[in-house]
Amino acid sequence: MKKIFLLLALTMAVRATADTPLYLDPTADLEARVEDALSRMTFNEKVAMCHAQSKFSAPGVARLGIPDLWMSDGPHGVRAEISWDSWKYAGHTNDSVTAFPALTALAATWNPALAEEYGEALAEEALYRGKDVILGPGVNIYRTPLNGRNFEYMGEDPFLAGEMVVPYIKGMQRNGVAACVKHFALNNQEKWRDHIDVRLSDRALREIYLPAFRRAVIDGGAWSVMGAYNKVRGQHACHNEMLINNILKGEWGFDGVVITDWGGAHDTREAALNGLDLEMGTFTNGLTSESAFTTDDYYLADPYKKLLRSGEVAPSTLDDKVRRLLRLNFRTAMRRDKPFGSLCSEKHYDVAERVSNEAIVLLKNDTLASGTTLLPLDPGQGRRILVVGENATRNLMKGGGSSELKPKDIVTPLDGLRDIYSDNIRFTQGYASGRPMYGHSETIAESVTDSLRHIAVDMAREADVVIFVGGLNKNHGQDCEGGDREEYGLPFGQPELIEALAEVNPNLIVTLLSGNAVGMEWADKVPAILQAWYLGSMAGNSIGSVISGSVNPSGKLPFSFPVNLEDNSAHHFGQLSYPGDSITQDYADDILVGYRWHDTKGIPARYPFGYGMSYTTFRLDATPANVTMSGNDKTEIKVKVTNTGKRAGSDTLQLYVAPDPANTSLERPVKELKAFRKVWLEPGATTEVTFAVTPDMFACYDPDSNGFVAFPGQYEILIGTSSTNFPISETISYRQ
Ligand code: GLC
Repeated sequence: MKKIFLLLALTMAVRATADTPLYLDPTADLEARVEDALSRMTFNEKVAMCHAQSKFSAPGVARLGIPDLWMSDGPHGVRAEISWDSWKYAGHTNDSVTAFPALTALAATWNPALAEEYGEALAEEALYRGKDVILGPGVNIYRTPLNGRNFEYMGEDPFLAGEMVVPYIKGMQRNGVAACVKHFALNNQEKWRDHIDVRLSDRALREIYLPAFRRAVIDGGAWSVMGAYNKVRGQHACHNEMLINNILKGEWGFDGVVITDWGGAHDTREAALNGLDLEMGTFTNGLTSESAFTTDDYYLADPYKKLLRSGEVAPSTLDDKVRRLLRLNFRTAMRRDKPFGSLCSEKHYDVAERVSNEAIVLLKNDTLASGTTLLPLDPGQGRRILVVGENATRNLMKGGGSSELKPKDIVTPLDGLRDIYSDNIRFTQGYASGRPMYGHSETIAESVTDSLRHIAVDMAREADVVIFVGGLNKNHGQDCEGGDREEYGLPFGQPELIEALAEVNPNLIVTLLSGNAVGMEWADKVPAILQAWYLGSMAGNSIGSVISGSVNPSGKLPFSFPVNLEDNSAHHFGQLSYPGDSITQDYADDILVGYRWHDTKGIPARYPFGYGMSYTTFRLDATPANVTMSGNDKTEIKVKVTNTGKRAGSDTLQLYVAPDPANTSLERPVKELKAFRKVWLEPGATTEVTFAVTPDMFACYDPDSNGFVAFPGQYEILIGTSSTNFPISETISYRQ
């Protein structure tokens, strides 16, 4: 009897498999499924799959039961539903989400484990909203403080960006949501972004602007990459032979899908031959404005069919695109074991809040004449606190461009401070900035600015402590896509307001919410300064927790804060370096970007890369051991870290390599970040951190050999808690 049942079960299983086409069998080999599906598709179905059917979806194959592919912005949360074929929002009422902190904030945590939780939580929100691809993360390098989209990226150092983007991608893709790493590549400004032709050296390309993308693809396993709008060395990035065919798909072995930025395709032949797989958002009349919505006019639609039918481009170009699109579909839309996902769960708010807690950077906390510091501000003292500043109440998730979000819950800084200091809090707006808009911004009458400032100053006289909450916002010309900032200083009359407040009340705490460095000529008049980013739904909880001391700040700057704009590398070489001459741009600062520039040229930043204070203090100890390494040896450096203060807290040990200039005739930055570790310690506790030092840390790109070379010679290993403070240094002699 048992045998009969077994035979019956086996027969049914075989029949099921026999009836189920291979491509639909989730247990079958992925590549076999791809080939099976490809073999069943018609010519028209294949071409249709290579371009949009709506603003944010691309077609599957209905006849074969292969679902459409749904994409959504953005890197910090799932964007509200957009209409089928226009940029207008669809007006849904079930698409409010968790707004996670901006990626500069995530980078400021220097905590890769948090990045993984962030990616996983964001993917769960994407799954619930039925999205297969999240259009993020962005890892374009922070080259100028004027770039309107720096808040969406992970700072000025490719190693930090790489270390943080890999876990974000793994956390996201684990449950079947594709990351789409953007914008590949050299989209380091918004001015003339859709056509500026970036020229740069191979060393700058390989050492600064590509490494984070390379990590995302090779170590993160990103399933899609978004081409940038700009040109690189004369060819649009979305169909750039060097970037896509040679480097991304050739050298790096990328097996996923290259998606245009929306409207980033400009040429059918290049799109066919240079590795573009999915065309989205093209202005269908092929000119610069959107015609009636006909995707047949897309470059990879009828014009592509024409080239294929004429034999001008080989059918293999089409099959390669479709294989990649099917692979992406099987990894996402067609994946059967995906979780259902969730929106605005306690877990997601917890992740968002832990990221924002660890992101806030304490820049300044001077000891006052009283011998104490203003921060942390003990709620038990019952001091009268005036909160000044529009950013204390403004919804900073609105505006900014495609990363805009419709959060279900927002704890504003004022909410967070009121939760802790309750009736001791008074508020006044202090300044006005107008509405977030694109392409232009509101002019605020001077009379409004003056009157708001006078009210604030009058109220500040009566307060024991003043907390100013300002910075930038998501208006056009601020931290916003589609345009760059016009000035380095704080806008909307904030500098004058800060100075006027400091004049009448020395107990002034300035909290800046921004995604960019700003001019801080007023800093010497302010005893306490926090850099608090765009922190998303739980912003106020974190700002309140850090100001009151229930959270000990541990953020470190992911980019330098120059004293003056001209101190920044991009602004040192005239207009062609930034913003370019409207046609071409020359990255004359080459490999010296950010702290690499400041420290190599001896132009100190006001606040350096990797800098951030704590409410406690730490001591680093190591027994210096000058070491000789050769070949592929590796060595270890052990560092003891002790919390020498009275509060538990975290610090991030950073390891930089400083090559002896005699090692090679190639110019080298005086130091480069090559490792870091964040540690948490109770007061008085000690832990030991072990850094592995490997030869690849010594390497730089050698144009003569077209590869990275670790030249023999002396290397200083500098270990500290910012890019300018190294209590530990060791010399390593390296022999090839
Ligand atoms: C935008 C952005 C890109 C975004 C896309 C879709 O122009 O550059 O980051 O994902 O279009 O909104």
